[in-house]
Amino acid sequence: MKQLLLLFLLLGFLNSSSFSQNNCPVLPTPTNYVLPNLEKESAQSNLPLSLGVDTTNLTKNLFNQLNYLLGVNHQMQAFVSKENPIIQFKKLKNAIEDSYTINITKTILISYTSERSCFYALQSLMQLIENKNNEPTITKCYISDYPNFKWRGLHLDVARHFFTVEEVKRYIDLMAIYKFNTFHWHLTDDQGWRIEIKKYPKLTAIGAWRDSTVKNHYTSTPRTYDKNRYGGFYTQEEIKAIVKYAAERYITIVPEIEMPGHARAALAAYPEFSCTGKQQGVEGLWGVFDDIFCAKEETILFLQDILAEVITLFPGQYVHIGGDEAPKNQWKKCEKCQHLIKENKLKDEHELQSYFIQRMDKFLVSKGKKLIGWDEILEGGLSPNAAVMSWRGFEGGIEAAKQGHDVVMSPGSHCYFDHYQGRGKSEPLAFGGYTSLEKVYDFNPIPKAMKSEQAAYILGGQANLWTEYIDNFQQVEYMVYPRAIALSQVLWCQNKPSFQTFEDNLINYHLPILEKRKVNFAKTFLAASTQISRTTEGIAIQINSKRNETFQVKKIPENRVSNINSNTLFSINRSEKSQEEIIEFTSNETQISESVIIKNSPTLGLPLKLITLPNPRYNNGDLTLVDGNYGSLPWKGNEWLGFDTSEIIFEIDLLKKQKIKGLELSFLKDEGSWIQLPTSITIEQSNGKKSKTLNADKTNSQISFTESKLFVPFSGKASKLRITIHSKKKIEQGLAGEGHQPWTFIDEIRIVK
Ligand code: ACM
Ligand code: ZN
Repeated sequence: MKQLLLLFLLLGFLNSSSFSQNNCPVLPTPTNYVLPNLEKESAQSNLPLSLGVDTTNLTKNLFNQLNYLLGVNHQMQAFVSKENPIIQFKKLKNAIEDSYTINITKTILISYTSERSCFYALQSLMQLIENKNNEPTITKCYISDYPNFKWRGLHLDVARHFFTVEEVKRYIDLMAIYKFNTFHWHLTDDQGWRIEIKKYPKLTAIGAWRDSTVKNHYTSTPRTYDKNRYGGFYTQEEIKAIVKYAAERYITIVPEIEMPGHARAALAAYPEFSCTGKQQGVEGLWGVFDDIFCAKEETILFLQDILAEVITLFPGQYVHIGGDEAPKNQWKKCEKCQHLIKENKLKDEHELQSYFIQRMDKFLVSKGKKLIGWDEILEGGLSPNAAVMSWRGFEGGIEAAKQGHDVVMSPGSHCYFDHYQGRGKSEPLAFGGYTSLEKVYDFNPIPKAMKSEQAAYILGGQANLWTEYIDNFQQVEYMVYPRAIALSQVLWCQNKPSFQTFEDNLINYHLPILEKRKVNFAKTFLAASTQISRTTEGIAIQINSKRNETFQVKKIPENRVSNINSNTLFSINRSEKSQEEIIEFTSNETQISESVIIKNSPTLGLPLKLITLPNPRYNNGDLTLVDGNYGSLPWKGNEWLGFDTSEIIFEIDLLKKQKIKGLELSFLKDEGSWIQLPTSITIEQSNGKKSKTLNADKTNSQISFTESKLFVPFSGKASKLRITIHSKKKIEQGLAGEGHQPWTFIDEIRIVK
């Protein structure tokens, strides 16, 4: 097939001189882009504001879409014209699935295999039209193109915060620009039930509304709540309208109805389907909650009734049933759940979850649908027909593919758009973590080591937008764009260009497109950052910028430089008096402000040797521990070293023998992200002569807890210290990540004299 396309391409452009895929403004980058060798002819054609279209091979919907896209992008329009049309269409047979070609000479010929691929061609065409001197212009070229992955998804959580019908439509409309084809609609969670179910009206009458919402980050203390009633839901008529709107853009909606966990909104309406029957309100806090659906028969039938209504609304193949983060504490105590375990000869509660999901699977299969769930559905045995969405890394997806199940890769490391995208202090409050544009661009849904037989089960990938900290649509756009464009490259291109090429294209062609569409995209990736390096006396800070920028300085340490550019170095020496040094600067070009705060100490920049290496995801180098730059909360990843081992050893060189009182070590505690405090810390002189072990426990009177800082006394003289940190091997029952090795995150260590 590929040869056929190539032949076609060469026949069309025998004179072509350059195969310049990298110069193509279209994103995701097309498979082939050819500029013709035009000696006398102009390389560009002017287009009239009204384009005549031969609709012989065009459906009404595609004509309408063309007209709409011309209007919103270029203030142009289309009209039906049989005589001298500017755009013509041709249906291809025997070509690659979802492929299309665009041949632009004086006129435009679009050839396509499916209606869907014709729509992709229209989206590409929109990105080829430029506005030159107030006149639409197009460069003559030839494009042939088809997608690499079948599942190119974006997700939106409307439970934590509700978005209107118009906002959801806009989300879908913007997805279409970048050839996404799957919208995963997270419709139910602990904090709200958002889909009308006729048989159970209390789901929306009660379950769609909460009486309060936690303020700030949910890990911050003291916890405070607003007392506003908050909520909303979509009627079935509204859902039908959104499904139709998506179908007109060749986007399939996958509805998610969460079970058995994340069920508090449903249980507020129908507490009889929990294990305890306890009446509780719709949850106003974020996190994972013990009260989940009981696995009893009545609940299974209740949920199947709900799914029966859901599938009448969504014509797509897949129904997502959640399956993630379901603590089993209630099931362990529940007579009915325990009876089910015995009756069905199940080993434990994980097998009970597997039984529960299998009942849903059988039901969905009987209705001609296919079940998909988060990777926890692997635990206790995967239902035979189920597909897996791998979010806790790639491992769940790899295991599912080994077992012959379809997989969508959506790992937190690359695909969670609720994580921070920049290091700067100006980023809006986010869940935590750090997923930069470049990190998204680096994503590959097929792990390197995967065998091709298994790779065949990888349907594609998806980014998720959880909305705990996103309460307005402007911010939705901020978190999704431009990261979604990087993801579209990953999912569409067989050979994506370098990140630099992508970034140039993004800046030159696509930020203007987003501006035209009034998208509130993040400019974070343009921001300068600071880089801290070690000097013999302490540290130096340099502003790092990819562009030629100048900066206005807001605050700088006393008696230092006043004019700064990206070459300026600030140095801070550990011999100076201990104080906070703040460097704050604003780019004259992007107007983005950044700042860095350094707490000076006698430890600043001392040599440090990591004997245990951090996980590569959170390894920012040993200097991180002694750079005076404390991790902020919520954490962004780059300010910490993250270890996934139960023993961490490192050595710090004090350069000369000196008397110390002890060490202060700062750790991150974020149990929701599986990050826990250590259990004990040992400090020894490197020659092993003197040693001090302390249990890192609040009850130990020798350790003071100041948030997550632990002080370990060590009175005596030393020139080199060896520090060993122990943590639990397994996360205890009932906490997020139960059974897994907890993470230990350290950001700073300081000698106390
Ligand atoms: C998830 O992020 N809990 C799927
Ligand atoms: Zn139960």
